[in-house]
Amino acid sequence: MNADIPETMLAWRVPRFGGIESLRQESVRVPEPAPGEVLIEVRAAALNPVDLKTLQGRYPLITQDNLPYTLGRDVAGVVVRRGEGAQAWPQGAHVCAFVGQGEGALADYVVVAASALAGEPAACAVDAAAAIPLAALTAWQGLFDHGKLQGGERVLIQGASGGVGRFAVQFARHCGARVVATASASERDALMTLGASEVIDYRAQRFEEQVGEVDLVFDLVGGETQERSWQVVKHGGALVSTLGEPSQEQASRHGARAMRYTARPDGAQLAHIVDLVEKGVVKVEVVERFGFDETPKAFERLAGAHLHGKLVVMRERRDAL
Ligand SMILES: NC(=O)c1ccc[n+]([C@@H]2O[C@H](COP(=O)([O-])OP(=O)(O)OC[C@H]3O[C@@H](n4cnc5c(N)ncnc54)[C@H](OP(=O)(O)O)[C@@H]3O)[C@@H](O)[C@H]2O)c1
Repeated sequence: MNADIPETMLAWRVPRFGGIESLRQESVRVPEPAPGEVLIEVRAAALNPVDLKTLQGRYPLITQDNLPYTLGRDVAGVVVRRGEGAQAWPQGAHVCAFVGQGEGALADYVVVAASALAGEPAACAVDAAAAIPLAALTAWQGLFDHGKLQGGERVLIQGASGGVGRFAVQFARHCGARVVATASASERDALMTLGASEVIDYRAQRFEEQVGEVDLVFDLVGGETQERSWQVVKHGGALVSTLGEPSQEQASRHGARAMRYTARPDGAQLAHIVDLVEKGVVKVEVVERFGFDETPKAFERLAGAHLHGKLVVMRERRDAL
């Protein structure tokens, strides 16, 4: 260990699945980066719905066998140690990353694959840098890798006002697609500013009676919203979801593609997104910041739903206190 990296650190852990009262702040060993990995000193960690699902035991990729488990999928921080073959990132580099399924970033330090890192955007504060990776990569991969969205096409984004949706609206608009968004009425103006050309209040209107045909439905809501979405998918179009597996029977009836996917870390894609943020093409919206000790409060806010942007936990340095 370096003299300035302690042997132990604080981390917000799930010792057993349950409600927010199950969260525990514990002292654990600082992890060692394996070959191809770096150790990051955490400055900020953003929350995502997956953190709550993991805590509650509703996220299938983290099972009882993974407990105790440190939460937090998004990090912005500083590279402090490199594993073998991870020398491309200098010590002291300010980076952000989607940490993947390993131990999380609600801690003093987190280990991340070097291939998942991008430089932190110089144009924004550390909380905004932490708010980008998971949500933005999910939007990018859903629209372009899986949805194959092209300029000139029409996309319906279901659940456009949330963390992923706000990035998706901006990316789709930037690629030249026409964006129809569903959201609650209060979010109409904000989404029009981000690039939607139509916003449908899902509580007051049935989107299938308003939208007409679209090339792609990007579904961030699932359930009956996903089922009703088939009514607007064009022949030859696609329905891509972050939630339930869409019906293949409906897909073949519509001559369309349908899939559910899990977002994956990708440093090159993230660097491209960071570049769009630096150029001012894409805005990052942080709705609330919390201190590290306030993490349970941040989870309460996450559980309250109807979030219109990201929640970020700031990791003050112990030596700065
Ligand atoms: N598969 C993956 O890899 C992956 C990755 C990221 C996220 N996800 C999942 O994708 C979903 C969205 O993620 P997120 O981070 O964007 O969540 P989020 O920030 O909580 O946003 C979801 C938004 O959907 C809106 N909403 C709720 N019901 C709606 C409806 N019937 N029609 C239209 N909008 C509705 C809510 O706002 P209002 O109701 O106030 O408008 C809320 O802001 C979550 O369930 C998450 O777990 C999966």
